[in-house]
Amino acid sequence: MKTKIFILLSAIFLLVGCAVNSNAAEKIVMKIGDPVMQVDGQDINIDNDGTTPVIINGRTMLPVRAIAEALGLNIAWNEGDKTVTVTTAAQNDNKENAEPQKTTGKKILVAYYSAQNHTKGAAEVIAEELKADTFVITPKEPYTEADLDWTDDNSRVNAEHDNPDTRHTELVSSSPENFAYYDVVFVGYPIWWGSASWVLDDFIKNNDFTGKTVIPFCTSQASGLGESGKELEKMAGSGNWLEGKRFSESFDEKEVRQWVSSLKLD
Ligand SMILES: Cc1cc2nc3c(=O)[nH]c(=O)nc-3n(C[C@H](O)[C@H](O)[C@H](O)COP(=O)(O)O)c2cc1C
Repeated sequence: MKTKIFILLSAIFLLVGCAVNSNAAEKIVMKIGDPVMQVDGQDINIDNDGTTPVIINGRTMLPVRAIAEALGLNIAWNEGDKTVTVTTAAQNDNKENAEPQKTTGKKILVAYYSAQNHTKGAAEVIAEELKADTFVITPKEPYTEADLDWTDDNSRVNAEHDNPDTRHTELVSSSPENFAYYDVVFVGYPIWWGSASWVLDDFIKNNDFTGKTVIPFCTSQASGLGESGKELEKMAGSGNWLEGKRFSESFDEKEVRQWVSSLKLD
């Protein structure tokens, strides 16, 4: 009886075409319960977490990231809508005015909170530029426009700002899938009263940044980065934190791309 092959992640799997690049493996062998796979005859760990293929309810579940990367495909996980997107180099080539494919050996995550979509815009440019995965830091109870109205003494942000004890914002999820896998983590946020929005706090406190390069970035109306990056570094207590960058809420995409390129993460 033929065994059906499903992916491990319960997510949408989009495989666009079957073209693969010249670095693609020709043969991948995985064994149930074995964290090592054979790629063109070479033993390679499936990942750093000891993931193994498994059989659940008679179905063989294989780790899709390891397979996609061995085949030279691009794979991106989006925590926000729980999707896995697998694309081919060919798809990238087909894009009008497509930038040449960036090749970086580093695994990069862009994690961000954005209440009014300005930081989201910058985060998406960074992720696109570096072919990075994204993780959207999402409050369980999102902030409405009325909640964010700092000119209203009775608004949610003012109440939380005035009473630090009430500032804790519960998140839908504070830990991205496979966080251990990433070498570089960008952390994006809006500036609130000269500091990073406190919505980030659980993400910063609940993850281990040891061994990772962490790069803060923010958007604001007028304030600079200030001490916001340093304050997050202190809160995290681990990771190699870089200086970071502030963008205006009406930032120019080119400025973001230039900054990313100046980081020389390739
Ligand atoms: C509660 C609150 C406090 C803010 N405090 C500041 C501030 O101290 N300095 C500043 O330049 N902008 C401040 N802003 C403006 C935001 O930093 C700016 O609009 C930012 O780009 C919003 O990012 P977002 O759209 O990703 O949420 C504040 C906005 C809000 C809602």
